[in-house]
Amino acid sequence: MKASDFHLPTQDYLLSHSVGRMMKTAQRDFDNQFMAPWQQLNQEPWAQWLEGVERFRTALANLLGSQASHFCPQTNLSSGLTKWLMSLPQCHQRRVKVLLSEHDFPSMGFVLQRAMSEVELTFIPDTEDMSCFDTWQRYVTAEHDLVFISHVYSNTGQQAPVQPIIEHAKRLGCRVVVDIAQAAGILPIDLHQWQADCVVGSSVKWLCGGPGAGFLWVNPEHITQYQPKDVGWFSHQDPFEFDIHHFAPHDSALRFWGGTPSVAPYILAGHSIGAFAQVGIEEVRAHNIKLLEEIWQGLTPWCVSPRKPEHCSGTAIINPGEQLPACIQALQNAGIAVDARKYGIRVSPHIYNDRAQILRFIDVVQRFVD
Ligand SMILES: Cc1ncc(COP(=O)(O)O)c(C=O)c1O
Repeated sequence: MKASDFHLPTQDYLLSHSVGRMMKTAQRDFDNQFMAPWQQLNQEPWAQWLEGVERFRTALANLLGSQASHFCPQTNLSSGLTKWLMSLPQCHQRRVKVLLSEHDFPSMGFVLQRAMSEVELTFIPDTEDMSCFDTWQRYVTAEHDLVFISHVYSNTGQQAPVQPIIEHAKRLGCRVVVDIAQAAGILPIDLHQWQADCVVGSSVKWLCGGPGAGFLWVNPEHITQYQPKDVGWFSHQDPFEFDIHHFAPHDSALRFWGGTPSVAPYILAGHSIGAFAQVGIEEVRAHNIKLLEEIWQGLTPWCVSPRKPEHCSGTAIINPGEQLPACIQALQNAGIAVDARKYGIRVSPHIYNDRAQILRFIDVVQRFVD
């Protein structure tokens, strides 16, 4: 995988934490998999379209160390999380205690607040280091029914130590949900090893698969316990049974699917996820770390995100203090595409970025901090 495999703008594009770039082969593949069956076949194209969705699930399984049957397509993380929470009978019988972080993406907090009948949210304060296992040990208790982990916190560039947190939380009898929106496509992930209860993610960022191709992974061990409320004929064990008096939930994660599915986003995303799975995320991450090291060295005092590979995400956060607005403007003028949030400028070197781009970024920022 190399820069020339992607459509890149004339700017230095360092925004893969927001939207990953499209592969050059994506359009032709989409024409073949989605448009051609619709344009050319004498019959309706559902068989070909559903094969495209199956390719998406298989690519996710290869990338994330699991099986296709454990994944259900979802429009976005919010929708996947809502469906999973609503499917837990216990979560509607009594008050549910949830542990999450003030650094989680707001959408996830909104869902946790709204999807269950009675809920008590405990936030780990934003002053805590989410990349440190000790933080989690201090906050996770047997009182919590549910622990919500973001594998990566997009505003701080911290990576949570997911495996030990899951093991710790499970020993205490908590269920665990993991948000991999900012990790999929840049950090190696092994869902089989993790053994979380539920994992939600999307394809739009580091996976370069575009919006609308989210997914819900559910632990197969508990699948029969989950009784989704938001269902449709594609959640049925046999969608073609057509008996309005009989609903039998699918025995895989597809019980979370619903009515007639959208297919186009999954066909589009399946192509790039397959490409990333083939290359291997270890290689993508190694390139990312090499470029992050340049940033850490060039901007040490202003780098507010972790500087150890096991603690950092794919994104570095740079805070030049009072000069932040002027620095952002200068970066924009220099044709360097980044954005800024609460803690500073977010810079995300991906497989299509190179050292020269990172050195240009460092050079512009240094003018504001020296
Ligand atoms: C960590 C994280 N979770 C979730 C989301 C998005 O959630 P949704 O797909 O529900 O919009 C984002 C978007 O930037 C994110 O960074």
